[in-house]
Amino acid sequence: MYQTILTELQNGTLIITINRPDKMNALNKFVVADIGKAMDEVYTNPEIKSAIITGAGEKAFVAGADISEFIGLGKEGGKEISTRGNESVFNKIENCPKPVIAAVNGFALGGGCELAMACHFRIASVNAKFGQPEVNLGLIPGYGGTQRLTQLIGKGKAMELMMTADMIGADEAKSLGLVNHVVAAEELLDKTKNILTKIHTKAPIALSNIIACVNDAAISEKDGFTNEIDRFGACFATEDMIEGTNAFLEKRKPVFKGK
Ligand code: COA
Repeated sequence: MYQTILTELQNGTLIITINRPDKMNALNKFVVADIGKAMDEVYTNPEIKSAIITGAGEKAFVAGADISEFIGLGKEGGKEISTRGNESVFNKIENCPKPVIAAVNGFALGGGCELAMACHFRIASVNAKFGQPEVNLGLIPGYGGTQRLTQLIGKGKAMELMMTADMIGADEAKSLGLVNHVVAAEELLDKTKNILTKIHTKAPIALSNIIACVNDAAISEKDGFTNEIDRFGACFATEDMIEGTNAFLEKRKPVFKGK
């Protein structure tokens, strides 16, 4: 049924594992489509009470959007990739009436950090690393990162992380409020499942209303998401974006010219 993810229903929780470990679970169009379909299952299957999103392998949760798909996209192509991802995955996760938790088992960079942030909350293994390195590619986050990172950790730290492209470890992520708990790698799924076992005893309609109300607290920032899509697309029309993405794929440092 799915090409790029594994799904398993355990005690009412759909465990969605992104399964491209040789490419650090990077989000290509097939992964985006598969996560979107799995989220539709979460919405519609009454046996599913909650979901966990995690990555296959020991290194990565998701190391971002698949950079090889960015080549030659241009402004409209950039906007399209961002809009499609937001509609089919990121907004669907955020607005899911059932709890969705990210179990972050390694690198959560770019679209990976954004995927974790779209979930209702995050549990990390000690080796997890977070960052928004798009600026290294001549880009900005395009899956809601400028909005959700700011909501979660505040403006100053969000600005610094996005401008420097620095990666932070799990403990710093916890101290900033980006993750709720940090546990040993082998305990990550059990810890996440245990929290969901507790949540499953609570009233489902009340839970869905909590999710909707907490999301509404940030509603004034909705225009920020549209602005992000437009500006993400505009970056695709720059020479620096072509230089940044080619430099990554050629495994060299980019030289940016501000054009
Ligand atoms: N898109 C496409 N391919 C990616 C990728 C991405 N976001 N992240 C990793 N990969 C690929 C690498 O190109 C490499 O492929 P190859 O084996 O065919 O050469 C493979 O995954 C393994 O990655 P590698 O870089 O060799 O592993 P590493 O352990 O040295 O470094 C990272 C791991 C995560 C630090 C590094 O891969 C990285 O910086 N990735 C990009 C992060 C990023 O910029 N994300 C934002 C995208 S908008």
